[in-house]
Amino acid sequence: MRILVLGGGGREHAIVWALARSRHAPEILVAPGNGGTEPSATNVPGLDIDDPVAVAAFAAGCDADLVVVGPEAPLVAGVADAVRARDIRVFGPSRLAAQLEGSKEFAKGVMRRHDIPTAASHAFESDEVDRAIAYIKRSPFPIVVKADGLAAGKGVTVAETRAEAIDAVRESFGGRFGDAGCRVVIEEFLSGPECSLLAFTDGETVETMAPAQDHKRALDGDQGPNTGGMGVYSPVPSVDEKTEAVMADLLVRTVKGLASEGVRYRGVLYGGFVLTEGGPKVLEYNARFGDPETQVLLPRLSSDLVDVMLAVTDGTLDHVKLRWKKAAAVSVVLASGGYPGDYEKGKPISGIGEAERVPGVMVFHAGTARSKGGELVTAGGRVLDVTALAPTLAQARDRAYEAAAKISLDGMQFRSDIAVRALGTGA
Ligand code: AMP
Ligand code: GLY
Repeated sequence: MRILVLGGGGREHAIVWALARSRHAPEILVAPGNGGTEPSATNVPGLDIDDPVAVAAFAAGCDADLVVVGPEAPLVAGVADAVRARDIRVFGPSRLAAQLEGSKEFAKGVMRRHDIPTAASHAFESDEVDRAIAYIKRSPFPIVVKADGLAAGKGVTVAETRAEAIDAVRESFGGRFGDAGCRVVIEEFLSGPECSLLAFTDGETVETMAPAQDHKRALDGDQGPNTGGMGVYSPVPSVDEKTEAVMADLLVRTVKGLASEGVRYRGVLYGGFVLTEGGPKVLEYNARFGDPETQVLLPRLSSDLVDVMLAVTDGTLDHVKLRWKKAAAVSVVLASGGYPGDYEKGKPISGIGEAERVPGVMVFHAGTARSKGGELVTAGGRVLDVTALAPTLAQARDRAYEAAAKISLDGMQFRSDIAVRALGTGA
């Protein structure tokens, strides 16, 4: 079996790692991959993974049996449709289904039509600045202004004042996020802890994974700017079974709601929830695995990932019961100095071997590459995900930090409080 994975971050390294352990012993290609995906896989540089025609031609040319799409951009561009049109199995939703992530207003429409609780909101087009401002003036604060389309996590402003909210609208319409910002969604601020729940779905059956908690801000104590995610843990002790069941039901209703409109969703559906006093509400959907959530979820999964992915693509997920390890997992992101702002690349990295000798530790690469001389160097903002599995969250956290301390790279930055909140709530 030959599998082509698209993407090159920590999420894709974790996917490659899990696929490589399958009983199917697949041959894996990863485009572009990173400094950690070889030797489990063959890295494929130079393929434009956002180009549906190029990806479909490459997948056909290399006789791939399955294509796994990691990031959102190729999905929203229609890569899954193009691959499927060649009769090649593809793990990831169609262009239309991926609009759940690709357009906030599309997602809001689905939620409105199927009674899925979310923040009250209103969408405005770029010729409706005055109406947007009037809406802001009538609304309580804080208020949230979002670019409608994909903006790599940067399109959201939580505005404390009218002036901030109006600025955010003007900036978005002014082209700050390109086409993604031509429409804005202005929404009610939801207060409460955030929690991610991801599910595998073939469009009918929905199999949820374990809850995970990301840490979006750059600095300890949830201070500093938003990032792609600085660390994550799973399970989440503060989420009780009832809350988890409510979140799972909202994902089921989303998939069934789309199906009732003729849209079949296949792949991973990621629900970002806020646990409000009135119960969980959907903050956003993602049409893919989370990054860094995947780096704790896949190490906890005992089921064979290839079997699960084939069941998703073939519509037989009802025959699969996901099995999970009891072990807890904590993953700490080691980032380049300056991230999420400007940072330098090409810094040598050392100590990964020593880190991986700590029991239960896996180091997933995110932004790494091999220099011409074969040396491992930094190549991105988030560089490594140091993940530890252990019987308890407290032990997993200790192991992750013990391992992280063995790694050096010039200017390295990381949060020292990943999973601290969970331990305060009785883990
Ligand atoms: P998103 O890109 O939609 O994940 O938003 C990024 C972050 O902004 C979220 O993780 C939240 O912390 C925050 N956020 C977005 N929408 C809201 C909202 N309606 N209420 C409160 N916080 C929000
Ligand atoms: N961890 C957040 C995301 O994957 O979007």
